[in-house]
Amino acid sequence: MTDFIFDNKTTIVFGKDKEKLVGEYSAKYAKKILLHYGKGSIKRSGLYDTVVSSLKEHSIDIVELPGVLPNPRLSLVKDGIEICRTENIELILAVGGGSAIDSAKAIAAGVYYEGDVWDLYMRRGEITKALPVATVLTHAAAGSEASTGTVISDEESGIKSSYDDVLLRPVFSILNPELTFTLPPFQIACGAMDMFSHVMERYFTVEKNVELSDRMCEAVMRSIIHLAPKAIQNPHDYQTRAELLWASTVAHNDLIGEGRIHEWVSHQMEHEISAVYDVAHGAGLAVVFPAWIQYVMDANLSRFVRYATQVWDVEYDPSDSKKTALEGLSKLKTWIHSIGLPLTLSELGAESGSIDKMAEGTLRFGELGNTKVLKFTDVKKYFS
Ligand code: NZQ
Ligand code: ZN
Repeated sequence: MTDFIFDNKTTIVFGKDKEKLVGEYSAKYAKKILLHYGKGSIKRSGLYDTVVSSLKEHSIDIVELPGVLPNPRLSLVKDGIEICRTENIELILAVGGGSAIDSAKAIAAGVYYEGDVWDLYMRRGEITKALPVATVLTHAAAGSEASTGTVISDEESGIKSSYDDVLLRPVFSILNPELTFTLPPFQIACGAMDMFSHVMERYFTVEKNVELSDRMCEAVMRSIIHLAPKAIQNPHDYQTRAELLWASTVAHNDLIGEGRIHEWVSHQMEHEISAVYDVAHGAGLAVVFPAWIQYVMDANLSRFVRYATQVWDVEYDPSDSKKTALEGLSKLKTWIHSIGLPLTLSELGAESGSIDKMAEGTLRFGELGNTKVLKFTDVKKYFS
């Protein structure tokens, strides 16, 4: 195992009607908040009214900034930073999915940062202080409700990039599974693929002696495989939605990944695809992750054999390890199609014209990969 500091301060408030507690929890941090949300799902579902009335009951002043898009944009982040500075905001409350939360974190990071907030995403700066962020989550997907990360797209440069800092982990997140009932089936599937990928990025390690976290990763993956189709078939099945929602948090709150060397190549590649084609993150991952497994499998075959047998119940063939590993990959692909997600760039609606640009972007911060170090020509091949 590698050394680590596990520092997850996010209070998770989980269960039916828990969004009604948002005023009580927010009051611990602020008298004045920025309420940050997306394009309207929270108004259609009635969640907006519940949140506002709970905040008002606790005499909290609210300044609103709606309009976060999936693949959240830098320009809105800059508006938010300006608002927080002029209005003396004390807490940013994101209500929505990963995009609203990531945008809130970017604003929180930028408020005290003296330079351009985009510096952080280009690895040209670090924060030493941030506004607290809290969330009412409506989507089981990105895990941003308890993660340190934020992912933002800059409309001008066409770059989508991430920034990580423990200061950005939300102080509390409210998770009511019922708030996910209104998600369309495509978004349920994208969310499942995203959380599944968060586990795979950790699971495909070159680190030895990580049996405990291997088993935790396998448990979370097996649960997601089972839960995602059930949630799509019966969106109002509370217990299924509850488990899937908790899986999204557990997949990305660092617990199951500690002591391991991670990959994150597929995430880097997907961010390039969604920067160019503005696709849903989970759908992009459905295309790139199986392709990555296929491309690097021989470099750490025993790991992919374990994945096949422990996650996908493939019977081990001692005479042909590669066949066993390939069967695991094949089961992953079948599952991806079964929940309605694409496996190729053309199924995703992304033509292959921008491969050079995407390959360059993938390696923007240097070579990538632990299972196998990927160079420009590798990345190009693997995008094709
Ligand atoms: O904007 P609204 O109207 O709210 O609609 C959203 C949006 O159109 C809708 N939606 C959300 N909850 C809903 C709902 N519709 C009906 N009922 C509900 N309960 O769903 C659409 C997608 O929402 P979004 O927030 O974009 O989805 P998600 O949670 O998948 O977040 C994706 C973003 O997270 C980033 C991704 O790159 C992407 O930009 N990620 C963030 C990470 C992190 N911060 O740790 C890690 C991830 O790997 C990921 O990169
Ligand atoms: Zn992700």
